[in-house]
Amino acid sequence: MRVLVTGSAGYVGAVLVRSLELSGHDVAGVDTQFFRDALVADEKSGARVRPGDVRRFEVSDLRDVDAVVDLAALCNDPLGGLNPSVTFEVNHLAAVRTARLARQAGVSRFVFSSSCSIYGLNSRHPLTESDPVRPLTPYAEAKHLAEQDIARLADGDFSPTFLRNATAYGPSPSFRLDLVVNYQTALAVTRKEVRLRDDGLAWRPFVHVEDLCAAVRAVLEASREIVHNQVFNVGPSEDCHRIREIAELVVAGVPGAELKATKEAQHDARSYRIDDAKIRQAIPGLIWRKRVPNGISELVDFYQSIGLSEEDLASTRFDRLATVIGHQRAGRLNSRLYWAAGCDPSGNHS
Ligand SMILES: NC(=O)c1ccc[n+]([C@@H]2O[C@H](COP(=O)([O-])OP(=O)(O)OC[C@H]3O[C@@H](n4cnc5c(N)ncnc54)[C@H](O)[C@@H]3O)[C@@H](O)[C@H]2O)c1
Repeated sequence: MRVLVTGSAGYVGAVLVRSLELSGHDVAGVDTQFFRDALVADEKSGARVRPGDVRRFEVSDLRDVDAVVDLAALCNDPLGGLNPSVTFEVNHLAAVRTARLARQAGVSRFVFSSSCSIYGLNSRHPLTESDPVRPLTPYAEAKHLAEQDIARLADGDFSPTFLRNATAYGPSPSFRLDLVVNYQTALAVTRKEVRLRDDGLAWRPFVHVEDLCAAVRAVLEASREIVHNQVFNVGPSEDCHRIREIAELVVAGVPGAELKATKEAQHDARSYRIDDAKIRQAIPGLIWRKRVPNGISELVDFYQSIGLSEEDLASTRFDRLATVIGHQRAGRLNSRLYWAAGCDPSGNHS
């Protein structure tokens, strides 16, 4: 299958491109490359990855492609809150436009990378895809709007699928420390401590980044009737944890690390658990291979291999929001997040 991955240079994209190639797919990628400094490994990939902004896509960019995996986005609540109108422009409008151009170009499959964060606040029971959503942030709201508008494009020749991903963790060549398991494990490795930012009672679902990519692959390889215009939660039901439990798992997985006192008064309003039955029943070949404790021990080895230091935790390098703010302050990105003249890896500028 000829697959175009948008956001191919990001945390998920860098793992996905390799895993699709290993499965024999012909992979191309597009990424505006906001996070070049977060690269920790040479990508030994034959994929044709080119710099480019999805907001500037033309129909010709999507020709000769069987499937699009749409990952390009401003990826998390803090970055999504920096300038909500740009978040809607990229995460909602550009995603819908990419899907429309893909349909026009004759692409038959479109996998949209959504997020469980659209469930917002509902932790009474594990949520299925038909439970009501309650997006609480611009990031989550934009993902929800994109799901709804792309679903309307589905027809006999165009099959979108919506993956509501849990919070990812684990090593990637384009690394992020602004993800709970990655960050807490980094704190434990470098400072021998784990700290909660609030009471730690909020629930979150988690998924290893390789399992997330396995779900994308499984959806691409599944027959059309199974995935046509379907929404799937992505992540094992068993790996929904309160944030405090993640801290405890990290302490158990990193010798010498301790859990430090917390700011008990603060509470995260976002809290949700997911039910993964739908994707497991639809695609029985998809198996979650990793759990959070596996990820923590992999991360310990990974941090050693890349020489992660305390300075890395304080730097902007692995933090998506801080990196974007750094580009803006240095005049490399403008307020709409277009590269300034001379800074755009594609040679374009706004
Ligand atoms: N990582 C997670 O925990 C998680 C959880 C749920 C959903 N998701 C979704 O998965 C996808 C990938 O997330 P990630 O963790 O790899 O994030 P990331 O920030 O590492 O990667 C996103 C990539 O998109 C690129 N990008 C942003 N705007 C672009 C634009 N206008 N044009 C072209 N490229 C652009 C960035 O340069 C970056 O490389 C996103 O859609 C995200 O919402 C991620």
